[in-house]
Amino acid sequence: MIYLDNAATTLIKPKEVAEAVFEAIAGQTIGNPTRAGHAASLKGLHAVTAVRELIKDYFSAGEDREVIFTKNATEAANILLKGFLRPGDHIITTAMEHNAILRPLYHLQQEGVELTILPLDFRTGRTSVEQFQTAIRPGQTRAIVTSHASNVTGCRNNLQALGEICAAHDLQFFVDAAQTAGIEAIDMARMKIAALIFTGHKSLYGPQGSGGLILREALAGQINPLLEGGTGVFSQAKSMPPFLPEHLEAGTLSTPNILGLGAGVRYLNAHPEAGEKAKQATNQFYQALKKEPGLTFYGNGEEAAASLISFNIGKMDSNIAAERLMTEFGIACRGGLHCAPLLHQHYQTEQQGMVRFSFSSFTTPEEIKQAVYAVRVLAQKAMKEEAE
Ligand SMILES: Cc1ncc(COP(=O)(O)O)c(C=O)c1O
Repeated sequence: MIYLDNAATTLIKPKEVAEAVFEAIAGQTIGNPTRAGHAASLKGLHAVTAVRELIKDYFSAGEDREVIFTKNATEAANILLKGFLRPGDHIITTAMEHNAILRPLYHLQQEGVELTILPLDFRTGRTSVEQFQTAIRPGQTRAIVTSHASNVTGCRNNLQALGEICAAHDLQFFVDAAQTAGIEAIDMARMKIAALIFTGHKSLYGPQGSGGLILREALAGQINPLLEGGTGVFSQAKSMPPFLPEHLEAGTLSTPNILGLGAGVRYLNAHPEAGEKAKQATNQFYQALKKEPGLTFYGNGEEAAASLISFNIGKMDSNIAAERLMTEFGIACRGGLHCAPLLHQHYQTEQQGMVRFSFSSFTTPEEIKQAVYAVRVLAQKAMKEEAE
């Protein structure tokens, strides 16, 4: 199988990731962090704290932000948005977003939060900085939330410019980096990002079940916890501790997954070329096929920020195309709608969906060649079938 569904989850992980998860269990030394003062609990605490520090460094979070571990980006987005927004608040987002952002926002809209969803530009595949600026309602807008890059087109937002706008208008800047963490450099301090939502199991090469939220500590008091429960500290209090990370981390952490994620981030630190390699693989595929008759590419393939690209083959249903790519060529990719319904509305592909190929730094030149060959053959067949 040629695995080109890395935007869903990376299948090939560095061996250090598996070793870290294995060791966390088989080593029989990692206890429940913060729950006791014995050696096993302390070892768990030190190991998890080391990963928090590693992640803070990796995203240049600075001293005034803290990592909250979650099981994925979706959980992080729910904690952030539902905890922060109150009825009457206004928030700005875009038609590029994944349902991990849209669905919590639609839920909040039912409760009286005002939502502006900005449209995308057809050519650039993103919302312009000016559109964000004009949507701000002085005194009412509290935040902008958007993805760093689309999970369907790979088109990228200008985080630096958006961060400046948020700072100038005293808004919080929330970024969903699910598709770019591990691919593109993110400097939270320089980009003035108040909260970064990330998932561990994609290009950070962590296990499924890892992810988190990196949050400005000063915001802790403004975020109502989504979950309440044991923290191992402040146990006499009837409410969650007011400080991070405990304020937003109820219950036992997924320590083996966190340690696996740490190994993924260490791997990326040792291989700083990995993100670029994944993007280059995407670009090679796109350049080889961008003029191929019968193919429609979406977004702006020349500028993709993430390691993915979406297209359609003639009028073929994208799920059928994905199935044929698997059965006829052994290529695993994704068809259909990609949890980003407004983006499909924008490109009028709600019926057909899109075929998405997503690459990783482990994708080989031979696999790229075979992917190009397979799509070309399928496109030629489709053209013939549609002409008959
Ligand atoms: C842009 C974006 N945001 C959020 C998510 C949700 O990630 P997870 O499924 O790990 O919660 C994804 C997953 O594909 C995504 O692509």
